[in-house]
Amino acid sequence: MRKKVVIIGSGLAGSIVAYYLDDQVDITILTKGRRSESNSMLAQGGIAAVMSPFDNKKNHIMDTLVAGAFHNNKEAVDFLVDEGPEVIKDLIRKGMKFDCDDQGNLSFGLEGAHSFARILHSGGDRTGKKVTEFVQKQLSRKITWIEFAMAVDWIIEENEVIGVRYLNSDERMITLKADAFVLTSGGVGQLFNITSNDKSITGDGLAMTARVGGQLTDLEFLQFHPTLLAADKGIHPILISEAVRGAGAVLVNSYGKAIMAGRHEKEDLAPRDVVSRVVNEHIKKGESVYLDISKVENFEARFPFITDYLLQTKSPYQNTKKIPIQPGMHFMMGGIKTDLKGKTSLGNLYAVGEVACTGVHGANRLASNSLLEILAFGQSTAQSILNLLNRDIALVQSDEKTEIFHEIQFNLPERSLLKEKVSKTLGIVRKTSEVKDFIAWLSSYQFEFLPERMNKAELEVANLCLVSKEIALAVLNRHKSLGAHYLIEEEQ
Ligand code: SIN
Repeated sequence: MRKKVVIIGSGLAGSIVAYYLDDQVDITILTKGRRSESNSMLAQGGIAAVMSPFDNKKNHIMDTLVAGAFHNNKEAVDFLVDEGPEVIKDLIRKGMKFDCDDQGNLSFGLEGAHSFARILHSGGDRTGKKVTEFVQKQLSRKITWIEFAMAVDWIIEENEVIGVRYLNSDERMITLKADAFVLTSGGVGQLFNITSNDKSITGDGLAMTARVGGQLTDLEFLQFHPTLLAADKGIHPILISEAVRGAGAVLVNSYGKAIMAGRHEKEDLAPRDVVSRVVNEHIKKGESVYLDISKVENFEARFPFITDYLLQTKSPYQNTKKIPIQPGMHFMMGGIKTDLKGKTSLGNLYAVGEVACTGVHGANRLASNSLLEILAFGQSTAQSILNLLNRDIALVQSDEKTEIFHEIQFNLPERSLLKEKVSKTLGIVRKTSEVKDFIAWLSSYQFEFLPERMNKAELEVANLCLVSKEIALAVLNRHKSLGAHYLIEEEQ
């Protein structure tokens, strides 16, 4: 009998795992929205990879470790830098097009904390969309896609995942059993008021795995991107790619003074955590911060997505050559603990991409290493699933039973209030006393266990509560600042 694999999430991580499993197993992909809605589709800058003969893997490894404050799993970093380019070459062989120079050679951009211009890009600043769409187009028609399906909980038998329950588009609960499950549901962007993340990113995979005792790690390390658009209310704060600074833009205050001068040897191209803290400092003082793009050559041609958005929203940037920016929640370095083949602490459950933590990013991710992570570990995870399934281990068949549902009423805070408190407490700068107050506030609500009946909106809030509590606890356990975790009241 053919083996069944269920993938949760339709971004690049879910798509690349499906690509490497395709035709060998039966695949079902569950996604909370449409298959075209994911963080991957919004990724702009590109994919960091040593593909130029003038570049050097040792340098990419060292850049990753320095940006990660040496908290990284070195084995994972070596794997990323070695294997990522192999997957990129495979995609190029299949017809994936990255941007090239006039001679037809791959064109590489520069981003923060990289010692070499090694960022591949496609469609200018539409790299994530181009790569994800390309991989999805390679997938066979045999794959079953289930859109508007929100995963709720795992069905567990003897520490192995044997099924998943999800709410379908009519909010009815459906059970799906399979031989292996791959979680690619992303991070926690929607916990914060200002984020570059897609609206679907509410920590669901993290919460459902935590509820059944799966191991999570390094949750205190949240990356805030320094440059999201700061526009009028109602205008979405899209990312203004770090590649814009790589192409010569400079962060300035209202008087045009460069704010990164003297703050780090790499100035505007310092690691993201450093730049975000400096921008945050200025904004907290009531100042505005801008990206001065007057020295960026061919801005419109190189950044067509950003240009279109600025024009659509009637930004005066063409006259001023300045784009107002603010920092916002971008990426979670921690997540569900996995090995280099995506294996989690629960049998049959794999995780890839932002939801997973191999330790590759350490305490702060290097720019454009996230799509590379997805490609490198997506491929190894698919291989590891095939190895497992080829061993022909019989799926544990059992009565469906779960300890998860309880005869309780949900008691949840308003989503907007939760986001307000999280944004204040777990943001770029943390204070231990405020984090303790936040945990005390959360303790008056019930979200750890799920009642039998709930709707998607309630479930999202319950998941956001649970994940924010786990992050807050992780923050309290990390007594010293490190990378993107920055405490201003150090405990003795
Ligand atoms: C960006 O384009 O600035 C984001 C890329 C990344 O998250 O690494």
